[in-house]
Amino acid sequence: MEAQENIPEFTLEALAGQLRSPSGTAGVSVGHTMHESNIAMTRNAFTALGLQEGDHILELGHGNGHHLKEILMSIPELQYYGLDISALMHKEATDFCDAVQLQEQVSFGLYDGRTLPFEDHVFDKITTVNTLYFWADPLALMQELYRVLKPGGLCSIAFVDKASMDQLPFTEFGFTKYDRSHFEVLMSNTPFILNRIPEYTEMVRNKMGQEMTRRYYVAVLQKP
Ligand SMILES: C[S@@+](CC[C@H](N)C(=O)[O-])C[C@H]1O[C@@H](n2cnc3c(N)ncnc32)[C@H](O)[C@@H]1O
Repeated sequence: MEAQENIPEFTLEALAGQLRSPSGTAGVSVGHTMHESNIAMTRNAFTALGLQEGDHILELGHGNGHHLKEILMSIPELQYYGLDISALMHKEATDFCDAVQLQEQVSFGLYDGRTLPFEDHVFDKITTVNTLYFWADPLALMQELYRVLKPGGLCSIAFVDKASMDQLPFTEFGFTKYDRSHFEVLMSNTPFILNRIPEYTEMVRNKMGQEMTRRYYVAVLQKP
């Protein structure tokens, strides 16, 4: 969730729809804004996985993919697969990775937000940042993440805390908001072990140009 919004022509509902699945010319700007606003969360979500050479990793909801240059270039043998529901974000991320010559390390796919198009036990690590709010069936998607992860594999899920989301009026439109305890209850109904769930705070600027503090979590889950 972007805490800095500079796209005033949107209604709150339209902005919420763009954040869920960016589209059209305006969606390109939304993709850039998301990347800039959320890069600290993204870095923390990847760092939490302890990435190593040779890892096969999956990211759900990569947005425009502009974070991949710094992350992938630091680990040359890492193989990355990005899945998104937005055809525009799929194209933006593919074009960006072509431009920065990451083609050998990345693959991208579109999916329906429910069923992961992979066989069982494919990935060493999985991450997703700011997508949890949009999952139609969180337990079913967690089961899918578990299925495609190798035994011993890690999954990091980064999400903004409900109280911080409540300060952003567009989150009234189609967002499911989580605080730590709500998330822990969700995870307790999955086969994952909740390894840790550190909390972060950062100063960000909201749509009205006001500074606000937002709290977010990077949950790290393990498949036994
Ligand atoms: C709010 S943006 C976050 C983008 C980026 N991860 C970030 O934090 O800046 C949500 C992204 O996830 C995608 N998305 C929404 N629901 C999804 C789902 N169920 N599975 C995968 N991607 C999803 C959207 O198309 C968009 O690219």
